[in-house]
Amino acid sequence: MNFELTILPLSDIRSDLEVIIIINKNLKHHFVQDKKLLKRAGFSCEQDETCLLIEKNRLYVGAQSLKGAAIRTAAAAAIKALKDTQYKSLKIATYTNKGCTYTLRAMVEGLILGSYSFETYKSKKNKNKIKDITISLEEYKQHKIKIEKASFVIHKAQIIADATNFTRDIVNTTPDDCYPDVMASIAEGLAEDTGLKCNILKPKKLRKEKMETLLAVARASRHKPRVIHLTHKPKGAKKIITLVGKGLTYDSGGLSLKPADYMVTMKSDKSGGSAVLGIMKAVAEMNLPIEVHGFVGAVENMIGGDAYKPDDVLVAKNGKTIEIRNTDAEGRLVLADVLSYAQQEVKADYIFDFATLTGASVVAVGHYTSSIMSHSKKVKKLLVKAANQSGELATALDFNPYLKKTIKSEIADICNISNTRYGGAITAGQFLSEFIDKKHTNKWAHIDIAGPAFVEHPWGENPHGASGAGVRLMVKLLEKLVNTKTEKKGK
Ligand code: BES
Ligand code: ZN
Ligand code: ZN
Repeated sequence: MNFELTILPLSDIRSDLEVIIIINKNLKHHFVQDKKLLKRAGFSCEQDETCLLIEKNRLYVGAQSLKGAAIRTAAAAAIKALKDTQYKSLKIATYTNKGCTYTLRAMVEGLILGSYSFETYKSKKNKNKIKDITISLEEYKQHKIKIEKASFVIHKAQIIADATNFTRDIVNTTPDDCYPDVMASIAEGLAEDTGLKCNILKPKKLRKEKMETLLAVARASRHKPRVIHLTHKPKGAKKIITLVGKGLTYDSGGLSLKPADYMVTMKSDKSGGSAVLGIMKAVAEMNLPIEVHGFVGAVENMIGGDAYKPDDVLVAKNGKTIEIRNTDAEGRLVLADVLSYAQQEVKADYIFDFATLTGASVVAVGHYTSSIMSHSKKVKKLLVKAANQSGELATALDFNPYLKKTIKSEIADICNISNTRYGGAITAGQFLSEFIDKKHTNKWAHIDIAGPAFVEHPWGENPHGASGAGVRLMVKLLEKLVNTKTEKKGK
């Protein structure tokens, strides 16, 4: 998709189609030229409602307000409505709220995210045909916003939305086509394209590093595990961020086998790791002036004579012993070792892990929202705010000492499942916390993306399949961290 910016009014721009966003049902705005026709068509200007006036080559879409989220989903709805048409170019005017450019960013993100479709396995492709988009900055005139600033905003929005789509592609790929070694090759390809440094750890090195819990989860699969380490290290960077992702290329549940209905969609258990790859792509392309490390534990959880078992006791990289009572609680085992390895390799100012860790997170907060857990109130607040500004939904879940006791084991240091059905997202987070060194305690947050990572009923700017959850949230936070001072102690 090519974006072109102009200060010309819409009427002076040539293109196949004109798209008009109607804000808060305001048909009196001078962009709206077909008031009577729209009324006759029964168009009520609801959020994301579209009306294509084919003979006028004009598409109208409703947005509740000028807020980023409303503009983003309206733009996505507009581009989706054009999927089966033959239009190749469109023009659209941007609004501005008191001179701010966030509506422009949201609009571009919505157009790119909304036009996404995954058609790798379809014999007959039906990709969105819109190639050229001209954006009129007509409304900007009264606010003296420079075209250079607007074009920088568009450039960033494109990078972020493309990185989200890159993550969606990886997650949507089937487990037979995307297994740990393939994830590692994707990371290597990304490094080659962007200048990131890439180190891949294979089983021999993983054994040397004593990543025995990760290796145990991987054992029954014919696909050997990989740990990926990508680095973005610009000169003079003053902050270091570590990202860790759960990359279960398939989660059958292992010997604690998932019921048939729950196994479908478990190709999406690599969403956390895929998000880390997408974030690293955006960080490199934006050349953010901070050091960012991306670690991914890429593993397949399968059954077989060689499988790890309930009743096993495993020794994690940090020396803690773990009683296995359910092999379907495998993500925390993989993350335990990758988190330990990441902390050994990098002393970071912040560590964030992304994982489709628990069904309990979905039960707790719903399909649209990520759960955020951390020992630091400040870090939780930073993440929730960044998420909401980025177009993602996230909410904090608090740890407590009573739930912590439920993962105690009679025979080992800790158990991989809780002794209660309730609070499963939190007990999983508290399990991970056991693998965070003291010096990183207040610098770490766990983001459970099990709800929003995979979309079964399209919502907002997300079509069916992977949403790319985590990418926009984290890029937004990283952009903010560039401009804030690091404090010695988080609280
Ligand atoms: N990958 C799943 C969690 C999941 C569930 C992700 C639904 C996306 C949608 C994870 O490995 C898992 O199976 N967790 C178990 C933990 C339980 C055994 C304590 C779960 O949530 O049921
Ligand atoms: Zn599982
Ligand atoms: Zn899993």
